Amino acid sequence: MGNLLAGKKGIISGALNSESIAWKVAERCVEEGAQIVLTNAPVAMRMGEINGLAEKCNAPVIGADATSIEDLEQLFTRSMEHFGGKFDFVLHSIGMSVNVRKGKAYTDLNYDWMQKTYDVSAISFHKMMQTMWKLDAINDWGSVVGLSYIAAQRVFPDYSEMAESKALLESIARSFGYHYGTAKKVRVNTISQSPTMTTAGQGIKGFMDFFNYADKMSPLGNASAEGCANYCVMLFSDLSRFVTMQNLYHDGGFSSMGMSPSLIEQ
Ligand SMILES: NC(=O)c1ccc[n+]([C@@H]2O[C@H](COP(=O)([O-])OP(=O)(O)OC[C@H]3O[C@@H](n4cnc5c(N)ncnc54)[C@H](O)[C@@H]3O)[C@@H](O)[C@H]2O)c1
Repeated sequence: MGNLLAGKKGIISGALNSESIAWKVAERCVEEGAQIVLTNAPVAMRMGEINGLAEKCNAPVIGADATSIEDLEQLFTRSMEHFGGKFDFVLHSIGMSVNVRKGKAYTDLNYDWMQKTYDVSAISFHKMMQTMWKLDAINDWGSVVGLSYIAAQRVFPDYSEMAESKALLESIARSFGYHYGTAKKVRVNTISQSPTMTTAGQGIKGFMDFFNYADKMSPLGNASAEGCANYCVMLFSDLSRFVTMQNLYHDGGFSSMGMSPSLIEQ
């Protein structure tokens, strides 16, 4: 591959293990010449797998609960110390549903848990950007990307309250994208990714069924985590400078399909 991110510096959240989408993004960004800082919730870091990635990427790991402003302030401040200045790109790759985890049906949600789900999965995206905004932490023409799923637009019953979380995440990308674009030429987008075999993905009931269904429904098949990493590299690079406030489908064509004759045959 080339050197698309030569001289660029970025922060990558959400690498839990080698299945994580963020893990592949970190590897690809470094292959393309970027310097990175890795971050995850302290509880996830205790599992220790991220240290192997950090070594491979020659990157420090700075723990931060993405719902805590204090943690985010120290994440971005310490990252700027490490980089010797501002940075150029940020990946938000964070999602968790308390009601899904605890097996609560969509028609019987616990609303305290739902608030927690929104805070972790969507409001944390706003918190990250607001904290970076106040610290003036991103260079002009920087790029911020969050990861979404098509349940924001269509009904996937087992995705439960994560559907509303993704709708909120995508809306935050548009709204903050306006402010960041106007003031700083920073772009903000979400990628709507195919179902992907990761810890978060497989936490959804019936995941294998909708993974296989989406794979058959998509003319190109499901987009892999590696494919998503390539797309992130493009969005962090200077080749996508005027793309902002978009929800970008990275799904092998799934979002444009109505019906698939081959699926019906099966
Ligand atoms: N796997 C899929 O099918 C799929 C499809 C579309 C979008 N996505 C999205 O991709 C993103 C990454 O998920 P993944 O599939 O790689 O799974 P993953 O489980 O590997 O990653 C989720 C990450 O969120 C982190 N996290 C949870 N709570 C946190 C907190 N309070 N602070 C900081 N980090 C926290 C976890 O530690 C973990 O690293 C999520 O937003 C997910 O919704 C996943």
